[in-house]
Amino acid sequence: MKIDGNVLDDMDAMKKLDASDMLRRLPEFHLQFKVAQSCFSRIDLDGFEGFKPTSILICGMGGSAISGDVLLNWVGKSSPVPIHVNRSPFLPGYVGSRTLIIMVSYSGNTSETLSAMDQAIHKGAQIMAITSGGKLLEICQEKDIPSVIIPSGYPPRTALGLLFMPIALLCQHLGLFDIDNEIPLIESALKSANTRLNPSITRLDNAAKELALSLVDSVPAIYSSPSLEVIANRWKCQLNENSKMLAWYSTVPEMNHNGIVGWSGVTDTSERTVVMIRDREDDSCYSRRLDLTGEIFLKPHARRIVEVWPDGESLLARMFNHIFFADYTSLYLAFLRGVDPTPVAAIDKLKLQLA
Ligand code: F6R
Repeated sequence: MKIDGNVLDDMDAMKKLDASDMLRRLPEFHLQFKVAQSCFSRIDLDGFEGFKPTSILICGMGGSAISGDVLLNWVGKSSPVPIHVNRSPFLPGYVGSRTLIIMVSYSGNTSETLSAMDQAIHKGAQIMAITSGGKLLEICQEKDIPSVIIPSGYPPRTALGLLFMPIALLCQHLGLFDIDNEIPLIESALKSANTRLNPSITRLDNAAKELALSLVDSVPAIYSSPSLEVIANRWKCQLNENSKMLAWYSTVPEMNHNGIVGWSGVTDTSERTVVMIRDREDDSCYSRRLDLTGEIFLKPHARRIVEVWPDGESLLARMFNHIFFADYTSLYLAFLRGVDPTPVAAIDKLKLQLA
């Protein structure tokens, strides 16, 4: 593939490829958190009074499910109740009336999520839904289930702030975690990243453009600790959907027990690139493993290893900073590859076939 890096400094060329205007949406990411707060404030929470969940299950697929992973990685270690993310049409056997189930489907029409909803109702779980409409909203209205209605018109993966916030706000309402203090920190981390990563900043000064240039024409492997698995997965998904590229991800220490052996068999380094997701507060046992893995087992076999360190005053702010960087890099990769970042024709085709 012939790559012309100049496209990244040519706003007209980028706009021409970007028929659905992702270039306009991304810089507005920080605005989603307050919008979601106001959507959440409109729901009736009477049914949750006095409710003490024994577990939290977030159900969704793809760009919607990531919202649950964000919660899990943010508070998983301190949560007084188990949190799981369910990406399937089936619910686990433990689900019952003390399970808090949050159904997340941006479109409201994803078949796996609708099947899970059906079972959650059947099992008498305590449910809240987050959606922009579709069948999920119809079911909620028919059965009187609280539903947070978020603005429509976004590709689901660009609506992560809208999808995540109502989950956190409900948990806060139930006395589990505090999200209000996090909002200014997230907004400030995103705004300051935007001044450095937005499309008008040229390649030489724009870390996302620079990284896009070094990942193009490769199959990136993304690695993180389990504490930041959501970020590694978000990178993979955004490279798949926005950039229309193959990518894979794994975490340490698990990949130290299989993946590193696979790398030893790589002889052609030209197509291999690595992105390491780092955080200054990652457990030292994980940081040490990421350091050693990169240095000893990946470096000799990869074209390039890039470490990504986020800014932000709290873990959650840094997680959204990481996500924003992945979003921008995948957007620039789409332009380098000459594709429109928004359409996901393969997903639409499969959904149609299954319907
Ligand atoms: C599209 C995207 C997909 C969808 C997934 C589920 O932008 O990211 O991964 O999120 O197909 O659809 P929804 O989110 O509508 O339930």
